[in-house]
Amino acid sequence: MAKSGAVQDSDAVKDSAFLRACRGEEVPHTPVWFMRQAGRSLPEYLKVREGIAMLDSCTMPELVKEITLQPVRRHQVDAAVYFSDIVVPLKAIGVDLDIKPGIGPVIANPIRSRADLQQLRPLEPGDVSYVTEAIGLLTAELGATPLIGFAGAPYTLASYLVEGGPSKNHENTKALMYGDPELWQELLDRLADITAAFLKVQIEAGASAVQLFDSWVGALAPDDYRRSVMPASAKVFDAVAGYGVPRIHFGVGTGELLGLMGDAGADVVGVDWRVPLDEAARRVAPGKALQGNLDPTVLFAPEAAIRAKTEEVLAAAEASGRGHVFNLGHGVLPSTDPDTLTRLVAHVHEATQR
Ligand code: CP3
Repeated sequence: MAKSGAVQDSDAVKDSAFLRACRGEEVPHTPVWFMRQAGRSLPEYLKVREGIAMLDSCTMPELVKEITLQPVRRHQVDAAVYFSDIVVPLKAIGVDLDIKPGIGPVIANPIRSRADLQQLRPLEPGDVSYVTEAIGLLTAELGATPLIGFAGAPYTLASYLVEGGPSKNHENTKALMYGDPELWQELLDRLADITAAFLKVQIEAGASAVQLFDSWVGALAPDDYRRSVMPASAKVFDAVAGYGVPRIHFGVGTGELLGLMGDAGADVVGVDWRVPLDEAARRVAPGKALQGNLDPTVLFAPEAAIRAKTEEVLAAAEASGRGHVFNLGHGVLPSTDPDTLTRLVAHVHEATQR
């Protein structure tokens, strides 16, 4: 990270280990970042968030900048991830929702009928001017460290909107998908447009990569994914293809979907801990890089076990022959010891120094 006040050096960013790995080029060391690296595992995060509701914090550019920078300072990760949440663009267009601590997003009026779709109007850049402002502040301080923007994918957003909140089995979501395919397509199409608009805002403000989180799409069989979800996700990726920034696609429990998720238009496919990266490479089309995939619960084991499991991930990545961005197989769990994350970054850097 550069000294405060420095401007972002875009050539240095383009040449960073993270962006090189996303493009499948030679790297000085394997780059590392963690999904959910900003947030509750950090005491400095809890301190600045005191008394401020999650969704309010996302609209405060100085606070967003500070929270986004915290893990970069502390862990020396190779990329920053913009502090926000997947429901921020929905809130920005007026959907009545909140994030309840310990639960997640809760929607006041779940979408179950055609009339309910009226809640989803297109997103205009002016709806999220705080994002543009915060990214401007961030790129002024990040120096050669790339900033990753993100959004929720149409299926995962739909699962919250249709269920009304987090759900284990997605029964209402799937009932809509199977029972009223026309309404389902209309819902996903609107979400694709909102998501694409939100990613464009982040890229135009200075994000140098984007990740599309389809966290819960692993609930679907491949045929249903191909028919009912892939076109909407592909629409999002197509909409941002022209910028030339790497597009990362991630979901949990998506072993059977990895090839299709790559084909939807990703440059980098995120893999959870259930599929070793060399096996993932057999499922994902050639030329795409891989991201992952240490089980986040491994970080609660003794140091020697963490190191051994990390070596396994690195060996599988090496065997995959693909560009590799080291990450966890899902987000950092809130009770993770931050020092464990700092040691993990140093270990990956040392072990892969070229
Ligand atoms: O550091 C980062 O990765 C950026 C921050 C980030 C947040 N949400 C902040 C947040 C990111 C990338 C997200 C994405 C997100 N949000 C996803 C996709 C990633 C994943 O985990 O699969 C999903 C499914 C959500 C929806 C959501 N928002 C959940 C499930 C929760 C947790 C609820 C809880 O309290 O257990 C949230 C809230 C949330 N988003 C918090 C943070 C820091 C915690 C709220 C708080 O700190 O008060």
